[in-house]
Amino acid sequence: MIKKHYKRILVTSALTYANGYTHLGHIAGSILPADMYVRYLRLSGYDVIYICGSDEYGTAIEMTSIQESKTPQEIIDKYHFANKLAYEALGVSFDIYSRTSSEIHKKTSQEFFKKLYDKGLLYLKSEKQLYSEQEGRFLADRFVIGTCPHCRYEEARGDECESCGTTLSPLELIDPRSKITGDRPVVKESSHFYFPLSKFQTKLEEWMSTKSNWKANVLNYCKGWFKSGLRDRAITRDLKWGVPVPLEDYRDKVLYVWFEAPIGYISNTKEYFASKGDTDKWKEYWMSSDTKLVHFLGKDNIVFHAIFFPAMLMAHGDFVLVDNIPANEFMNLEGSKQSKSKGHAIYVKDVVEKFNPDSIRYTIASNMPENKDTDFYWEDLQARNNNELAAILGNFVNRTFIFSDKYFDLMVPPLSGEYQPIDKEILSKLKSYSESIASYYENYKFKDAVSETMNLAREANKYFNDTEPWNVIKHDKQRCGVIINTCLQLCYSFAILFNPVLPFTSMKMLKMMNMSGSDLKWSDAYAVALKEDHRLNKPEILFSKIENEEIKNL
Ligand code: 2FM
Ligand code: ZN
Repeated sequence: MIKKHYKRILVTSALTYANGYTHLGHIAGSILPADMYVRYLRLSGYDVIYICGSDEYGTAIEMTSIQESKTPQEIIDKYHFANKLAYEALGVSFDIYSRTSSEIHKKTSQEFFKKLYDKGLLYLKSEKQLYSEQEGRFLADRFVIGTCPHCRYEEARGDECESCGTTLSPLELIDPRSKITGDRPVVKESSHFYFPLSKFQTKLEEWMSTKSNWKANVLNYCKGWFKSGLRDRAITRDLKWGVPVPLEDYRDKVLYVWFEAPIGYISNTKEYFASKGDTDKWKEYWMSSDTKLVHFLGKDNIVFHAIFFPAMLMAHGDFVLVDNIPANEFMNLEGSKQSKSKGHAIYVKDVVEKFNPDSIRYTIASNMPENKDTDFYWEDLQARNNNELAAILGNFVNRTFIFSDKYFDLMVPPLSGEYQPIDKEILSKLKSYSESIASYYENYKFKDAVSETMNLAREANKYFNDTEPWNVIKHDKQRCGVIINTCLQLCYSFAILFNPVLPFTSMKMLKMMNMSGSDLKWSDAYAVALKEDHRLNKPEILFSKIENEEIKNL
């Protein structure tokens, strides 16, 4: 059980950059685990909201706008709406999917900055930067390429050499040039506001020492940062595309995207409650110590959510700090990293057109990169769909319904005979499985939750085989009725227990059972919920087989 002192749970998935289509790497890293978690929490009666949206500022967006010869606004409009639709098609149940270009976000992040500034926490520092006279602007790190001083790779980026992996600053590059125009920039001074991250190191370390339940990858990663010593960070940039610095003399500068983007979680929560006519309710979520805040993200975002954002929140002082960061590793694509910038990725918008979204969710969840990088293979999608979803879950539901149709006129047969030990055993397993699956969800073990749920479906098939209703019907219809009643109760339980990972299938099953999907409860998974003589609907096939041709040449 989630600790009693928490009254509400606030779940976030890392905001998606609106400069490309969302791909399966995002789903495996930060979206699907969060969606499964909140779906489980809602079924269990917790007060939970799920916040996400598009991350629409920063050099990544500007760069794409130049590459696609469009304005940044056109770029974010194109990808924000496309990604919102793609997430919907995959059944992701955000309470809000908004955008950092919103007015409410501009105001919220400016107020945040202003509060730190008024507290005297920020300082100005002048620094040397590369300036393109031809383009009339400072060149942010991704806008500069040059020769890496370490490995001599000639196309190293201003923030990182992709060849040797060294983190760089643009000034370290040998023979730097503008990525867009090839112009040779000059060095010019510019002043920026700095956030005193170094001053928060002790406080952060003390706070993190209470987080013994965090995943080892997250803690170890942060320890590495602490060991090298946290450095103050510039939180403004000389760019045009961004949230303007809210100070008269600095209007030509914008807030650094990694400063304002996480504030987007707060802005989007505000927007969510405002849209429901409850303008101040966001404060209950963000400003109460009995809120459990959970950030879902991929490993490349750990430092921002475990160190930088918490330090910002500590500095601000009004907000709750994160309770857990169940960060995932990466899901690669057939052996190499999914990356939209390299065009090597499976886009959600494409895959949901070809395959059942629940089969995609199940395949990713079964192979979720919880502790190490994993790979997505089309053959795995085919195998999970055919050998598990269709052959185990689909088969059990299908044979139960066919039997109910053929011998019981699509009515739930009465429990007129006594339960036999074999029936009692499977019904008691329902309870123990429901509890262990719940505990996996509560402890962020999504792979285990899903495999345990499928194990229960295996048990259900075994029950069907062992009780042999096709033989029993020949001489004892009453006993056969008890068996089929039990199988139908199991089907109802599966609609609940599989709901976090297979939301569409869950609804389909409920429709077949002529049961409502609006008030599903986790605890009903082990109640005998279907009444005798309840009328069922005609069965539908839950999962069709994926043939070899369908995955050939993908
Ligand atoms: O890495 C990314 O995709 C970022 N857009 C994540 C931002 S998370 C949050 F801080 F907004
Ligand atoms: Zn290098």
